[in-house]
Amino acid sequence: MAFNNESTTDEVLAGFDLSGRRFAITGAASGLGEESTRALAAHGASVLMLARDPEKNIEAASRIRAEVPDADLSLDVVDLADLASIRSFATRFLGGGQPIDVLLNNAGVMACPFGHTADGFEMQFGTNHLGHFELTRLLQPAVVAGNQPRIVNLSSAAHGISDVDLDDPNYEHGDYDAWISYGRSKSANALHALALGSRLADDGVLAFSVHPGGIRTNLGRHLDDDLMQQMLERSKERAAKSGESGGMRFKSIPQGAATQVWAATTPDVVGHSGAYLADCGVGVEGVNVGRNGFEPYITDESRADALWSLSEQLIDA
Ligand SMILES: NC(=O)c1ccc[n+]([C@@H]2O[C@H](COP(=O)([O-])OP(=O)(O)OC[C@H]3O[C@@H](n4cnc5c(N)ncnc54)[C@H](OP(=O)(O)O)[C@@H]3O)[C@@H](O)[C@H]2O)c1
Repeated sequence: MAFNNESTTDEVLAGFDLSGRRFAITGAASGLGEESTRALAAHGASVLMLARDPEKNIEAASRIRAEVPDADLSLDVVDLADLASIRSFATRFLGGGQPIDVLLNNAGVMACPFGHTADGFEMQFGTNHLGHFELTRLLQPAVVAGNQPRIVNLSSAAHGISDVDLDDPNYEHGDYDAWISYGRSKSANALHALALGSRLADDGVLAFSVHPGGIRTNLGRHLDDDLMQQMLERSKERAAKSGESGGMRFKSIPQGAATQVWAATTPDVVGHSGAYLADCGVGVEGVNVGRNGFEPYITDESRADALWSLSEQLIDA
């Protein structure tokens, strides 16, 4: 069935019985992560909610249980800006011997001030990409053991701001630009999914990246007037380039989370592993990057391989 930019989580999951399917999702305690968790659980899935703040996670689980009283939820702590936290969670989880059918790498930080993760990586690249890269690498045996396994990475139309910088991934040189840093990290999320799609094909794992749309969530917490203005200008420029009118349009949270739960469940994407998805469909190269289009550099297999090697080097150093 065809869905679009207005489809909601419950619409894309209508008719799905997800009983017995196990999902793990990062950034589960707010925004798109919480809504994805609610919708998946409402359709019978077992969902492992991962968040860095255990209190926020408990509160989110209570909100979900108020709507879905029999929701099958479990909770654990992962700080993606700290390799020790990721490793400690992975050791705990793998010790339980449970498979993961779908890993949703959803957490993210956007346009924050210049800063570093616990391991010294620039905050946006370190959290959005390297944290998820390490989490996925460690959880890979559980995902490979899953039933019809998938990995879904949250990217963004903001990938159109910039390709990854393989020479200076941590902003050690040059002036920090919060939007360029976010764009690079979101291109990295897409390239990571592309590489996972080819590397895990023989294990039967499908991988996708997703642009959810523009949605008002806590993601905008770092946006002051200046950063907001820059965002609106970029959005106008992008729209003018692709002949769109009307500027930025926002989705509701259930519309915003629809593409990631669709990516996690629909049979329609089975032949598209590695693809960038948006508006509950497969992305289109080169047009409408603010909506469902994408820049060709996020489908460059050699860049994806180079980013993979660089990520391993940085994490294992
Ligand atoms: N909303 C949009 O318009 C939009 C557009 C394109 C892409 N996206 C992507 O969609 C994803 C979800 O974003 P959202 O809109 O739902 O925003 P959100 O409500 O701010 O959710 C992001 C989540 O990530 C968590 N997080 C941040 N840093 C973390 C860390 N170091 N370790 C673990 N968790 C961390 C946050 O936890 P805390 O609350 O503890 O910080 C929060 O729960 C992000 O990857 C974002 O880039 C969103």
